[in-house]
Amino acid sequence: MEKMIEKILESAKCEILSSPSLKSVSDTRVKYLGKNGEFTAVMKNLKDVSAEQKPLVGKLVNDAKCVIEGLLSEREKTLFEKELENKIKSEAIDVTLPGKKSGFGSFHPITLVISEITDIFTGLGFSVTDGPEIETDKYNFEMLNIPKDHPARDMQDTFYITDDIVLRTQTSSMQIRTMLKEKPPLRIISPGKVYRSDFDSSHSPMFHQIEGLVVDKHITLCDLMGLLTEFAKKLFDKNTKTRFRPSYFPFTEPSVEVDVTCSECGGKGCSLCKGTGWMEILGAGIVNPKVLEGCGIDPNEYSALAFGLGIERTAIARYGISDMRIVFENDKRFLQNYR
Ligand code: DAH
Repeated sequence: MEKMIEKILESAKCEILSSPSLKSVSDTRVKYLGKNGEFTAVMKNLKDVSAEQKPLVGKLVNDAKCVIEGLLSEREKTLFEKELENKIKSEAIDVTLPGKKSGFGSFHPITLVISEITDIFTGLGFSVTDGPEIETDKYNFEMLNIPKDHPARDMQDTFYITDDIVLRTQTSSMQIRTMLKEKPPLRIISPGKVYRSDFDSSHSPMFHQIEGLVVDKHITLCDLMGLLTEFAKKLFDKNTKTRFRPSYFPFTEPSVEVDVTCSECGGKGCSLCKGTGWMEILGAGIVNPKVLEGCGIDPNEYSALAFGLGIERTAIARYGISDMRIVFENDKRFLQNYR
């Protein structure tokens, strides 16, 4: 019996000391000290031992179990420390490595152009107003002298919400809102989004305009031409020329379309201006007396000039962007060029 206990103790010692992991130490504990372990088997044989030998053998078994438990705990401690050390080593962070960079934001070219244009006009004494994108048919069309069956409506593919409510197709509705609310003299610009059911390489269903309106005594076409020529020189450069072509808008009479010399080639002709040397950026005119009257302003006392500028077109001309769609794609590589 004694020999047997010694043998078990010896082999337990060997196994414990060579245990490679905490898991194998735990298996060894079960193997020797567990309910069905080696010592339980020894205790079962105790019935064959003489009465005076029994306490002796019992003591030997208990001592051996104590030794094994001691060795197991010690091995566990050593392995635990080793594993912890390895873990710390493998998970170590090199704090001297450079961090991940989270690039800088920048303004969208549309935002930049709006703020440049706003700066120019506020410098010329204009104030800035803002109005709704969901607009009444009355302000977007009817009070601008575009009744329901007017052919000019065909030029603006409209998103109708109801028969009388539209997504505004032009910021010109702000002329009406301003004249109904305030008394002349007036000098405002109103930047914002407009919507038309149109989508191809040079049209987007949402785009931006800036409306301008000056109502005062003795406003003439000369004022309009002088103002817009000065504006173009400030926005592009002092050598920029303007060209006024006769046009038609129901709410202005006379009406003009305004071109500026191409900012890329200075008027010589290049791919940006399609060889013409000119870029169209504005519609403008002297406000039709009917429109003034509709807003309660006496056309015998006051006259007005108005203009509507396409921001995307202006951004394209200002920054030499060749495809309008890129303006809406929000590709960071494109946007990073504008700060
Ligand atoms: N609203 C016109 C458009 O979207 C542009 C325009 C033309 C605005 C003449 C004006 C104007 O104020 O006088 O095509």
